[in-house]
Amino acid sequence: MNVVFLACGYPPEMQQYTRGLAEVGARVFGVGDAPAAQLAPSFKAYLADYLQVPRLLDEDDVVERVAAWVRGKAIDRIESNWEVMVLTAARLRERLGVPGMSLDAVRGFRDKQLMKERVAAAGLRVPGAARVRTAAEAQAAAERFGYPLVVKPISGAGSADTYRVDSARDLEQVLARTQHVREASVEEFVDGEEFTFDTVCIAGKPAFVNVAQYLPRPLIARSNEWISPVITTVRNLNQPALADGLALGRRVLGALGMGSGFTHMEWFKKPDGEVVFGEIGCRPGGAHLVDQMNYTCDIDLFREWARAVCWHTFEAKAERKYNVSIIFKRALGQGRITRIVGLVEFMRRYGEHVCEEKLLRPGTPRRNWKHTLLSDGFIILRHPDWRTANELANIAATEITMYAE
Ligand SMILES: Nc1ncnc2c1ncn2[C@@H]1O[C@H](COP(=O)(O)OP(=O)(O)OP(=O)(O)O)[C@@H](O)[C@H]1O
Ligand SMILES: [Mg+2]
Repeated sequence: MNVVFLACGYPPEMQQYTRGLAEVGARVFGVGDAPAAQLAPSFKAYLADYLQVPRLLDEDDVVERVAAWVRGKAIDRIESNWEVMVLTAARLRERLGVPGMSLDAVRGFRDKQLMKERVAAAGLRVPGAARVRTAAEAQAAAERFGYPLVVKPISGAGSADTYRVDSARDLEQVLARTQHVREASVEEFVDGEEFTFDTVCIAGKPAFVNVAQYLPRPLIARSNEWISPVITTVRNLNQPALADGLALGRRVLGALGMGSGFTHMEWFKKPDGEVVFGEIGCRPGGAHLVDQMNYTCDIDLFREWARAVCWHTFEAKAERKYNVSIIFKRALGQGRITRIVGLVEFMRRYGEHVCEEKLLRPGTPRRNWKHTLLSDGFIILRHPDWRTANELANIAATEITMYAE
C-alpha cells in the first residue's frame, strides 16, 4: 500500500495522519514545503520517502512535481486532509489513475455554491444563496433573498471575510470591505443553533459519526474578542433533538458522492426545529476537533482514518463515553501574555475532568484571534453528563482570565 500524502507535516496535526498511515501498514510518500533536514527524526520515521516542494498552494506546480517524483512507482492512494489541498490530491489521482474521489466530487465539497446546488437538488434544505462577483450582482441577490443576509467568500475558511448584513447600507459597507474577495456567496441568514456532523466514511458510508455543538455560533464567536468560544461533542447521538440533523448529514454525503475519508459538515437548527444545511468539507474539522472526537470515545481516529482510506475497514470500538468540550481563551490586552488568573483554582477543583490544558504561558506573544480559533490557547475537558460538561466549560470560559501587555 503506497500512499502519497500531501501536506504530511503541516498543519502540525497532519503528522498524526502520517503516523496513522504508517501504523496501518502503508508506505507513506510525504509531500511538504519544509526541507527534509528540518523534519523531526520521530516524524521522519513514519515516511518511506519525502518530496519537498517550493509552494504547496501552487497546484499546477505540485501536480507536475509529484507526478514526476512517483513515475515508475505503483501508487495506491493520493490523499490530503488539509482543506486547501484536497483538490490537488484529486487532480493527481485523475492524472495518475489512482483510486479515490473524483475531481468533480471533490469540487462539490470545496465550492460553497456548487455544494448547495447539489444538496438542494437532492431535495434537502439549504439557505437561499447566490454566487456573486460584482456589487450589482450582490445587490440583486439581496433583493431576491431580503435581509438579514450573510456575505462570505465562496471558498472561505475560518469565517474570514464573513459578515451578517442587516440593511442595504450594511451591504454597501461590507462590499467595500471585501473588495479583495473575487467570488462571494450572498445567502439568506439562517437563525438558530449550530452543530457539526462529522464522519469517517468508507465508500460513502459513515463508519464513524460525530455531532458537536458550537457555543456560541461561530460568526458571533469570531466577531467578539471577549468571548471564549466553546465547542462540545455530543455523547448521546440517539436523542430526538439530533435525529433530523443526522438524517440530513447522511443524505448530504450521498448527494455529494462522498468516497472514503473524513467529512466535516455544519448545520443549523432553527427555533421551529427545521434543520438547514450549512457547509461541508471532505476533510477533518480543524481546531482539535479530531482530538475531541478521540477523547469522546477513547479511540485514535488518526489511525482509523488511515485504515478506512487504505483498507476500507474501521476497527475502533466507537462507544461514546463523554461529552468533550474545548474552550478557547483570548487574553485581555495586547503583546505578550503576562498572567493567567483563575487557572490554578480551576485545575484544583476540576482538574480530574481536564484532558489537555494548553494556554499560552506568560512571556509568550499573543496569537491573532481573528486568524486562528486556537487564539491564546485552549482547555479540553470531558464529562459523561452533557449538562455538567457544559457547566465546566462555562466556568473555564468565565472564571479563567488571561492578561497581556
Ligand atoms: N446562511 C447563513 N446563515 C447564518 N449564519 C451563517 C450562514 N452562513 C454562514 N454563517 C455563519 O458564519 C460562519 C462561517 O460560515 P461558513 O461556515 O460557511 O464559513 P467558513 O469560513 O468555512 O467557516 P469555518 O472555516 O469557520 O467553518 C458559520 O459558522 C455561521 O456562524
Ligand atoms: Mg464553517
